[in-house]
Amino acid sequence: MSEHTHGHAHGDLDGAAEWDERYRNADRLWTADVNPALVAEASGLQPGTALDVGSGEGADARWLADRGWQVIAVDISQVAVDRARAIDPRDAITWLRVDVTVDDIPGRDFGLVSLHYFPVAKSDEKTVRRILGAVGPGGHLLMVAHEAEGVRAHGRNPDDYFQPDDVAALLDDNWTVLTHETRERGVAAGGGVHTHDVVLHARRSHS
Ligand SMILES: C[S@@+](CC[C@H](N)C(=O)[O-])C[C@H]1O[C@@H](n2cnc3c(N)ncnc32)[C@H](O)[C@@H]1O
Repeated sequence: MSEHTHGHAHGDLDGAAEWDERYRNADRLWTADVNPALVAEASGLQPGTALDVGSGEGADARWLADRGWQVIAVDISQVAVDRARAIDPRDAITWLRVDVTVDDIPGRDFGLVSLHYFPVAKSDEKTVRRILGAVGPGGHLLMVAHEAEGVRAHGRNPDDYFQPDDVAALLDDNWTVLTHETRERGVAAGGGVHTHDVVLHARRSHS
C-alpha cells in the first residue's frame, strides 16, 4: 500500500503518524530556505501577527520572524514541531503541535495567515472556513499550492485537495483578491516536478 492510500479520520489525507514517520526518516525534509511566494507576497506587508499553517521545518516562520512578525507556527507532526523549535527557539515564534482539522486554531485576528503546500481534503470545507476565520480585519490570507501537473506527477490526485481556486470561490465581498495566478516557483522542488506555484493572496476588509 502506498503512503497516500491509508484511510484517516480526516478524509483520506495523511495523519500525524504518517507525517511523523516522514520527518523521522529524513534529517531534513524540505529546503531551509523561505518559500519564494512568501517573499513575493509578504515583503511589503506591515509586520504583525502571523499564523503559519503546516509550518514543517519552519523556514517560512523564521523568515517572518526575521522581519518583525510574531508568528504562531502550527503543524500536525510533533517531530516537525520539535525540529523547528530546536532550529529556532526564539520567542518571536511559538511552535505548536496542532491538527487544524480537529483542534482549535490557536489565536485569532491574525494579520497574515499563510499556507504553503498545506493539504486539506476537498471534503473538508469546514476546516478551510475556520482557517479563513482566523484572518483579522484588514488581514491577509496567502495560500500557495503546487500546480496540478506537479501533484499528479507524484501520483496524487489534485482534485482530492482544496486548491487555491476552491478557496477563492469561498471568499465573499469582505475579501479583496490581490493575487490569484500560477507562476514559476523559482526553485524546483519535489524531485524537480514542482516547478510552478498557484498563488492566492487576498485581504479581508476592515469591517
Ligand atoms: C508539504 S508540507 C509543507 C511544509 C511547509 N509549509 C513548507 O512549505 O516547507 C505540509 C505540512 O503540513 C503538515 N500538516 C498536514 N496535515 C496537517 C493538519 N491537519 N494540521 C496541521 N498540519 C498539518 C505536515 O506535517 C507538513 O509539515
